[in-house]
Amino acid sequence: MPATVILGAQWGDEGKGKLVDRLAEQATWVARFQGGNNAGHTVVLGDQVLKFHLLPSGITRKECHLVLGDGMVIDPWVLDKELSDWKESTGEDPRGDRLYVSERAHIILPYHRYMDGLDTKIGTTGRGIGPTYADKVNRVGLRFGDVAEVLGDEAWTKASVDRMNASLEAAGSSERVSTDGLASDIAWIHENYAMCIGNTGLMLDNALKLGEHVILEGAQGTLLDIDQGTFPFVTSSITSRGNATHGAGIHPGHVQDVIGITKAYITRVGHGAMPTEVEDEAGVHMGTVGKEFGTTTGRKRRCGWFDAVVMRQAQRINGFTGLALTKLDVLGGLEELKICVAYELDGKEITELPSTASALARCKPVYISMPGFPELPLSEWLAMAVHANESGKGISVLPAAAQQYVAKLEALVGVPCTSIGVGPDRDATIDCV
Ligand code: GDP
Ligand code: IMO
Ligand code: MG
Repeated sequence: MPATVILGAQWGDEGKGKLVDRLAEQATWVARFQGGNNAGHTVVLGDQVLKFHLLPSGITRKECHLVLGDGMVIDPWVLDKELSDWKESTGEDPRGDRLYVSERAHIILPYHRYMDGLDTKIGTTGRGIGPTYADKVNRVGLRFGDVAEVLGDEAWTKASVDRMNASLEAAGSSERVSTDGLASDIAWIHENYAMCIGNTGLMLDNALKLGEHVILEGAQGTLLDIDQGTFPFVTSSITSRGNATHGAGIHPGHVQDVIGITKAYITRVGHGAMPTEVEDEAGVHMGTVGKEFGTTTGRKRRCGWFDAVVMRQAQRINGFTGLALTKLDVLGGLEELKICVAYELDGKEITELPSTASALARCKPVYISMPGFPELPLSEWLAMAVHANESGKGISVLPAAAQQYVAKLEALVGVPCTSIGVGPDRDATIDCV
């Protein structure tokens, strides 16, 4: 079996966790390949709501092996908390048994969090992501595979602390780090993770050679990509298809399917323009019915209409083989559904995303309009999805206006839907094929 890549197509929070959990039933490995605990991925199993920031969402499937891959930045204390929560609810400690941390993944230290805490421009999650990637690119970062080597190395510790404190001072932070603090952090990381640090790229490559199915779980979304997103209001990693295999330590030839996840509308957390943002009744409806609050920071997500210009960019960069549409249920009850098909920029109509933040901020959406469909309780949507899948009727069970809406989105993006989400529960997903 080849690898399947699951990617957010918008500004994040499209429902990656839910889809990965669902597809992981047929996988033996799930690997994260970029980002860190800026991610917040939700899996809903009946009454149980699980939120993952670092652990791959396939952890819910006992047969799945889990990788925190080469391209990630990992806060070991956040991972420890997630692991202890997992152990408390399941009794399992997966470290070294089915959870492996790449020796190449970079470590988020308190210093990186202090630096990120100074951000006022981007509206980051404050988790230390950008400063850790900055240290990686500056070739001074600390990787999990380096921990055993720097353990007890006083010269390295002193040089690192001097560099960090000089940066903190220059950036205007009142925080400082100490040699004792850093030395004991390194010792703690070694003690807690030595049993699961390894060459995870090799593990995945071997699994693929044995015919096993690997899922590569994206974090954030294409519009948050450092190169292809809405710079500078982006995250600090490459969130797109090109980095899925690279960040996991395998070659692109392994990949067969690339699923782009998109909400039936759009949301964004943090700063930066979002041309289809609406704060009217429809926007309030999306935020309330969709429960649009950030999984990581709890911040209110900004809501807007589906944006085909954004999706055009996401499709060009990623070449999705299928779309997983999520949260269609949330639009139920709105009389009119708008879809942005182009922008008006300085009096001209454009169909591609502009590259600068100021141009994007001047873009006005050009809408088409579709009829809405009725609001239903989540239990009815869930029953509809179960019936659709059991009977093989697929999306023909949806209200006619909902089917027309889905068909229009597929035509605009030029990619067929493989699944339609109609509720947060694992089973509230209609398979299209
Ligand atoms: P991720 O970061 O892409 O994994 O997405 P998040 O978990 O941050 O946010 C998606 C939210 O929408 C979560 O609360 C999910 O439980 C919920 N969700 C996912 N799919 C659907 C859906 O089809 N309908 C509804 N109503 N909620 C969904
Ligand atoms: P998941 O994986 C939504 C946003 C932040 C901020 C910008 C930079 O759950 O979809 P960072 O802390 O990464 O330097 O912040 O990116 N952001 C996300 N928005 N979902 C996410 O992850 C995000 N991860 C980062 O809000 O605007
Ligand atoms: Mg999220």
